Amino acid sequence: MLFNNQVAIVTGAGRGIGAAAAKLFAQYGAQVVVNDLNAEPAEQVAAEITAAGGQALAIAGDVTDPAFPDQLLSATIAAYGKINIFVNNAGFTWDGMLHKMSDEQWQKIVDVHATAPFRFIRALAPHMRDKAKEEQLAGLPPEPRCIINVSSTSGLHGNIGQANYATAKMGILGLTKTVAKEWGSFGIRCNAVAFGFVETRLTQSKTEGESIMIGEKEIALGIPEQMRQMAKLMIPLGRGATPEEAAGGIIMLASPFAAYITGHCLEVTGGAGI
Ligand SMILES: NC(=O)c1ccc[n+]([C@@H]2O[C@H](COP(=O)([O-])OP(=O)(O)OC[C@H]3O[C@@H](n4cnc5c(N)ncnc54)[C@H](O)[C@@H]3O)[C@@H](O)[C@H]2O)c1
Repeated sequence: MLFNNQVAIVTGAGRGIGAAAAKLFAQYGAQVVVNDLNAEPAEQVAAEITAAGGQALAIAGDVTDPAFPDQLLSATIAAYGKINIFVNNAGFTWDGMLHKMSDEQWQKIVDVHATAPFRFIRALAPHMRDKAKEEQLAGLPPEPRCIINVSSTSGLHGNIGQANYATAKMGILGLTKTVAKEWGSFGIRCNAVAFGFVETRLTQSKTEGESIMIGEKEIALGIPEQMRQMAKLMIPLGRGATPEEAAGGIIMLASPFAAYITGHCLEVTGGAGI
């Protein structure tokens, strides 16, 4: 199987694209760590993987907590002994027009989509970069290792109401290319996937009333129904992606078929923006 004897960590994997990616990694042989801010959905995803004959462990925690990267990585090492694949997927939106956007609204979104991925990659250095260096010095065959950062077409093209999100999702592409250059000589690949319109709670109609609790604050998720319909008109394939179709982009880039691909941003958009 594609990911036999590999350990994958997916942040924000309690629902949506991350949950689909965690299940696919497990289906193709990886041992999977399912992280989410919310313990219950993370445990549910891990239980589904285990029930289907796979191996998974749920580790709840907030990716924006500066202490959490070391905790998550240490717990993974304690359970599975190594880390091959790390997916920076966790996130949410907090939209508003730029002239009304608060500093808090800006900072929370930059924290979750850019600062947290930076901290995780830095914390991965001993588990990926140093391990690869040891293997090289010992003349051992290298383990497959890669990082996948989740971006968005909002980052590539900008998007009304998303100055905070577009900035962070563009920023993560600079981070991706830098890591690809810094860690490439250790055989560690770093790529990004930019999603367009994926059917999850982030893109549900506002009328569904979905929200996320960030600390004490309840932040409304979703987009106006009119924008949902407009977005679909701009997509050559004529519909949003399922979470599984979106996760397929992550799986592709982590697979051995992408062994010579690094520093790349794969657009998984149904053709939108071409
Ligand atoms: N849905 C889309 O159309 C779309 C498009 C482009 C990019 N994306 C990106 O894809 C990723 C996944 O989004 P989704 O659509 O699956 O949304 P989702 O809300 O279905 O799933 C995101 C998960 O991340 C978790 N999360 C949020 N903040 C967290 C934190 N601080 N720590 C740990 N977990 C946290 C949530 O609890 C949730 O389970 C996000 O980075 C998002 O920005 C989504």
